[in-house]
Amino acid sequence: MLHFKTSLNYFVFLQSKLSKTLPGKFMKYFPSDYFQYKNNELYCEGVSLKSIAGKFGTPVYVYSKKFFADRYLEFANAFKSINHKIFFAAKSNFNLNVIKIFYDLGSGIDVNSLGELYRALKIGADPQRLLLTGVGKTKDEIKAGIELGVLMIKAESLHEVYLINRIAGDLGKKAQVALRVNPDVDPQTHPYISTGLAENKFGISAADAMEIYIECSKLKNIEISGVDMHIGSQITSITPYLEAVSKMIGLIENLKTAGITINHFDIGGGMGVLYNDEELFTPLQLAEKLIPLFKQIDCDIFFEPGRFLTANGGALVAEVLYLKENMNKNFIVVDAAMNDLLRPSIYNAYHHTQPVIKNNNEDIIADIVGPVCESGDFIAKNRVISKLEQGDLLAVLSAGAYGMVMASNYNARRRAPEIIIDKDKFFLTRSRESYEHLLWDEQIISNLHS
Ligand code: LLP
Repeated sequence: MLHFKTSLNYFVFLQSKLSKTLPGKFMKYFPSDYFQYKNNELYCEGVSLKSIAGKFGTPVYVYSKKFFADRYLEFANAFKSINHKIFFAAKSNFNLNVIKIFYDLGSGIDVNSLGELYRALKIGADPQRLLLTGVGKTKDEIKAGIELGVLMIKAESLHEVYLINRIAGDLGKKAQVALRVNPDVDPQTHPYISTGLAENKFGISAADAMEIYIECSKLKNIEISGVDMHIGSQITSITPYLEAVSKMIGLIENLKTAGITINHFDIGGGMGVLYNDEELFTPLQLAEKLIPLFKQIDCDIFFEPGRFLTANGGALVAEVLYLKENMNKNFIVVDAAMNDLLRPSIYNAYHHTQPVIKNNNEDIIADIVGPVCESGDFIAKNRVISKLEQGDLLAVLSAGAYGMVMASNYNARRRAPEIIIDKDKFFLTRSRESYEHLLWDEQIISNLHS
């Protein structure tokens, strides 16, 4: 028995039913080694999500350590035949223990701000395993990078290079610098996360690159030794990589002819992952296509994967607060909101949802929404899901990347705790914020009210 409020809903229902049965879709990937049902209860590795929700409340982020380790090793193995280094993009999940899992496996860390740098130092990272990136680094960020001696500062404009040169001079040091070059290729992804088109704010234009490198090579306090690119995120085709890498190899060869030696080529991150029905490529398939190109140049190859390493290793568990029907729609109101997981609201991103306790209820089509006072506050739209009851738990999957890191305190909501599961053990790595945390250093100024 099904409830269909409108024929449009019926159409959406048919589409999503169909998509569940096609090969290569999320349901084929789920259950996985990391999130699966045991006796009708959803587990992360060996720990039941119900027990986590019972101990720590909801909403709560849960991560699988094994997922992170497996993906890191999959990536590293794919490129093992060439000299390469992986720098985990901490922006995708900057939980200290998540960063440390990758670091301990041999990864470096790509940090995008003083805040991420601070986190990397907190886990005891060697600055020589850090890349400092970012389109608008402040003087303080550059100064910290140089003083600490990070492996590479990646500059995105000539103005920035001049500033790095000046700060390095003041500190009596030589800074290691790479230029981020914008190859002007279309990564065919969401416009908000496309970064390698000429119209995007990132990097220096490929057309100006030679001239800028030559100018940089004259500066005394920097050593310009790298070419860097990052064309976008959630990329589902190898073609844009091939196009961009070929362009950059041409640049590296021209630089060599001009007497500028490039020691490393950083191709950034961007590998897409399965959220719904994407056709994807594996690290091995990427390696098969790229390694022959890399062999044309004598450089170390750097990678900065984020999402690939983390996305499908995390779930956000929420509790159903209310069920309601407004006009033509069913709504499932849960206690997780856009402040916990922003991706659906700003990219219309799809996140698969599963009841934590499997039920045999009829399927309904519903919007899964949060308590924040915005219509844009939703986890899923027109989702076919077995009917849930008040108090049921819902797992929002693929939430390990760009989930907690993009969380906010909107509506004065406390950010969720983060739990890492390692086989049958669970670890609280960050507690739920308290209301006192939310008031940190904020005071009533009596003079203002006198
Ligand atoms: N390197 C640089 C310079 C980057 O800007 C990024 C991501 C990465 C590496 C890692 O990219 P990944 O492998 O994770 O695709 N908030 C968006 C994603 C923004 C990505 C920003 N840069 C989302 O939720 O989809």
